Amino acid sequence: MPLKLRIVYHVVPDSGALARRAAEYLVEKTEQIAKSRGQARIAISGGSTPKEAFALLADPAQPWRKRMPWDKLELFWVDERSVPPDHPDSNYRMTREALLDHVPLKPDQIHRILGELDPAEAAARYEADLKKSFQVDAAGLPRFDLLQLGIGRDGHTASLFPHSPALTETAHLATANHVAQMNTWRITLTWPVINQAQDVFFLVGGADKAPILNQVLAGPVDRERLPSQFIVPVSGILTLLLDQAAAALLPATDAEGRGLLERSL
Ligand code: 6PG
Repeated sequence: MPLKLRIVYHVVPDSGALARRAAEYLVEKTEQIAKSRGQARIAISGGSTPKEAFALLADPAQPWRKRMPWDKLELFWVDERSVPPDHPDSNYRMTREALLDHVPLKPDQIHRILGELDPAEAAARYEADLKKSFQVDAAGLPRFDLLQLGIGRDGHTASLFPHSPALTETAHLATANHVAQMNTWRITLTWPVINQAQDVFFLVGGADKAPILNQVLAGPVDRERLPSQFIVPVSGILTLLLDQAAAALLPATDAEGRGLLERSL
């Protein structure tokens, strides 16, 4: 039976507004989750887009640091490069520099993917951490409360790259993925885990992402070529926070900057 996906996108003028919107979304959702469930387990992505939002969360001069219920937060990553935690390419290092070094999260609230290990070992260790941290449901899948994704110009999300082996991995929660296009290894959540999250949102900015967003959201389904199309949350809702440049090829939004697409997948 085809899945009906409701794609809600919020468009803001530029990259600065996008970072502020992302900070607000992260805090607002975490406050709600912490209030209703007592604990918020959130998975974040790497790359450059989220970095500015993380810095806003950490900035004591901004409203978000004092609002965030840090003591209720458990932080996980969607993916990691197969590098040590102090490597320039490390998603953990980016997050530590922008956020973790400046906020009151304790070590046991931070679930780092051990990129310094052999990729398969790192994936296995992360899967064990997930199984320990979540009471997995009958489907054996952890349900993140909130999960943030980015999208690459090639249509990848997390470390689910076009035509890469991880696209067919559904038996594990996390996997090592060899990315032939870059001759590198990554560790990534698998798409069934991503889809299980209560709230999945993409954070995308920049004119260079407009074509791929349009292909992924409104073009023909071709998941091997456009792995972001694997992201069909079980909630039936997918949220996107976009700047105008990234949203340029999507249908126009309403006066509040809100757009809606519906797809059967
Ligand atoms: C990573 C991310 C990746 C990222 C996209 C977009 O490890 O790089 O998890 O999936 O979200 O590549 O990255 P930008 O935000 O830098 O465009």
